[in-house]
Amino acid sequence: MKSSYFLFILFCLFSFTHSAKAQKHAFDESYRPQFHFTPEQNWMNDPNGLIFFEGEYHLFYQHNPNAKEWGFMHWGHAVSKDLVHWEHLPLAIYPDNDSKDKEYATAFSGSAIVDKNNLLGKQKGDAATLLAFYTSKDNGQRIAYSLDKGRTWEKYEGNPVIAFDEKDDARDPKVFWHEESQRYIMVLWRMPEGKKSAEGISIYSSENLTDWTYESHLAGFYECPDLVELPVDRRTDDTRWVIFDGDGSYLIGDFDGKRFKPETPKMQGDFGKNYYATQTFNNLPADDGRTIQLAWMRGGEYPDMPFNGQMTFPTELALKNYLEGIRLVRTPAKEIELLHEKGDTWEDKNLIPGLNKNLTRKVKGDCLHIQGTFDLKSVNSFGFVVRSSRKETGVEIRYDATKQVLSCLGQGVLLSPEDNKIQLEILIDRTSIELFGNGGKAVLSSCYTADPDAQELVLYNTGGELLVEKLDIYPLKSMYEVD
Ligand code: FRU
Repeated sequence: MKSSYFLFILFCLFSFTHSAKAQKHAFDESYRPQFHFTPEQNWMNDPNGLIFFEGEYHLFYQHNPNAKEWGFMHWGHAVSKDLVHWEHLPLAIYPDNDSKDKEYATAFSGSAIVDKNNLLGKQKGDAATLLAFYTSKDNGQRIAYSLDKGRTWEKYEGNPVIAFDEKDDARDPKVFWHEESQRYIMVLWRMPEGKKSAEGISIYSSENLTDWTYESHLAGFYECPDLVELPVDRRTDDTRWVIFDGDGSYLIGDFDGKRFKPETPKMQGDFGKNYYATQTFNNLPADDGRTIQLAWMRGGEYPDMPFNGQMTFPTELALKNYLEGIRLVRTPAKEIELLHEKGDTWEDKNLIPGLNKNLTRKVKGDCLHIQGTFDLKSVNSFGFVVRSSRKETGVEIRYDATKQVLSCLGQGVLLSPEDNKIQLEILIDRTSIELFGNGGKAVLSSCYTADPDAQELVLYNTGGELLVEKLDIYPLKSMYEVD
């Protein structure tokens, strides 16, 4: 009797600890990113309406609430107090059409602003109105407004603010305040007269947010435009405007409130496989001073998951002077540090060729933040193999010093060493790798899938001498973990 009672207690203890482990936190499925935003379920594409308002970052997104495939677009919604931990909220913007099976007038991409001067006249009390500019499919550019910090939305009765033109397929309005001309500006993707060769970004201006004047058009772009002013080398008295295409490629130039005048050719912004539909946050606090960009990781795969789609980790944009001219650099938002677990550091270590010399053998995990400075000395190639195990070869991140190419998951980019050194910052999550070379001069954002049990990390050198000047590796907590 006694022994069966003892066995019963043991059994209870085992099932309790076991289920406690399995149920550590919600959203812990094998292919659920742990620090990249995903919808609770179903399809997600472009980030929409990115804005900071009353202490919250808002992330709206293209969402099909009914299926894991694209279609029947709504704006999904989440908020965060720190850009890292996101709370899912109910659907924000619905199609302008009651029929559940028609694509007509579904809610396509757009942006959000704070109606600080109550130009729409909807404000009640002290709290300013949030406005969303969105494309109603085949139904013009429209406004929705919210009086309760984005929780519920009404459609503006004067819609559309830019009428539908069946030839130009206009979409994805990004609206912002332009201080110099004292006007609101909208950049809108269009195909004027239906001409493929003319497809690009049209610029509109407005004093009242509802009447929009066409100003100019720049051909050679596809979907989700954005236009931002950035300081060069952090000097706020020396700025340039940067115009973005949907895939994150960009031109640097000048903007006078009417026209963008390019000073560079178009340059690629990300060299990975899955960077698309970029948008920068509006209305970040003035004392923050950053410009933060988010993108959809188009083309990622999430086997057997309830959701389909993930965002990149938010990145900070900056302009930097190089010998070849001014270039955009992009680095992970510093808030990633909020997820740091206790890390490991290596300093001034010579890395000898051969896998057995793996410096990082004690590091395990599928969520890591790696920061390293490598003095190339005479090395041929070096890099990391992530998500490997006895059974799995893992994914390779490589810098080929002879060809000066940084590569990962089949994509590569030229990157010259600075002072014979290469600096790497890497974010590894369950289904994505974001690789930032030399302070974000070269960025590769890509999705992958790996055996969930493959958790090892190898730092390798293929030949020659390599000095690991400094290497910090932090395992990352899940954003779903509650303390
Ligand atoms: C970009 C895009 C946008 C459009 C939206 C529809 O991925 O095609 O141009 O507004 O997706 O979901």
